[in-house]
Amino acid sequence: MAAVPLTAFRVGVFFLALVPLGLLVQDVIGQNLGPDPGEALTEQLGLAAFQCLMATLFMTPMSRWTGWSGWIRVRRMLGLFAFFYAVAHLLGFLQFVIGWQDLWAAFTERPYIIFGSLALLLMVPLAITSTKGMMKRLGRRWKPLHRLIYPALGLAWLHFIWQARSDIGEMVIYGAIALVLLGVRVYWFGWVSLVPLRSPPRTPRTA
Ligand code: HEM
Repeated sequence: MAAVPLTAFRVGVFFLALVPLGLLVQDVIGQNLGPDPGEALTEQLGLAAFQCLMATLFMTPMSRWTGWSGWIRVRRMLGLFAFFYAVAHLLGFLQFVIGWQDLWAAFTERPYIIFGSLALLLMVPLAITSTKGMMKRLGRRWKPLHRLIYPALGLAWLHFIWQARSDIGEMVIYGAIALVLLGVRVYWFGWVSLVPLRSPPRTPRTA
């Protein structure tokens, strides 16, 4: 693939990942965040984190299906955006939802907060080791470490659906997509195989 389309693609994905932040800034300036702006801001940042996490997991299947490696070249950027939005979401929670009060109770009493915190904790080593230098240093251990993204997505989804107060339609759709993304990996890794992974043993020819 020529350098220019790849660069254009990367720039396009970069700006696309900035859209939730842009919309949020617009809503803050226009005072369009409703009666509880702090809570709305926290929610929107959480949703952006979740969407970027899903988008990150879309890149490898897209690359395999289209045979174009450009998808893989934006994977790290999307993962870092997911981490950025998740940290901003946590800060929003600390600042606007609990006001930095009763931190121990806030993080241990509600299961959905526990799931969210675990998801974020799993994302920390991924963000730290996302540089080329760390990739080199970790060598063959880098890939298994980065599989932490799968439990992170599962935990983030549990966090997402657990905090829902009424309509869970949106969460179920996200969950179905997440299941497909994780199911594809299960199939690739051969944990479940629809076709035999090895050809059956040959029977010796008689006569
Ligand atoms: C320490 C970590 C986390 C804390 C304390 C936390 C806290 C919260 C809280 C309090 C809400 C409900 C907001 C409200 O309605 O008042 C929420 C919603 C949400 N969080 Fe988190 N969260 C954390 C991590 C994450 C992570 C890692 C993700 C995704 C990668 C995430 C994605 C979401 C989503 C998608 C929602 C629902 C937003 C909506 O209703 O549209 N959270 N979180």
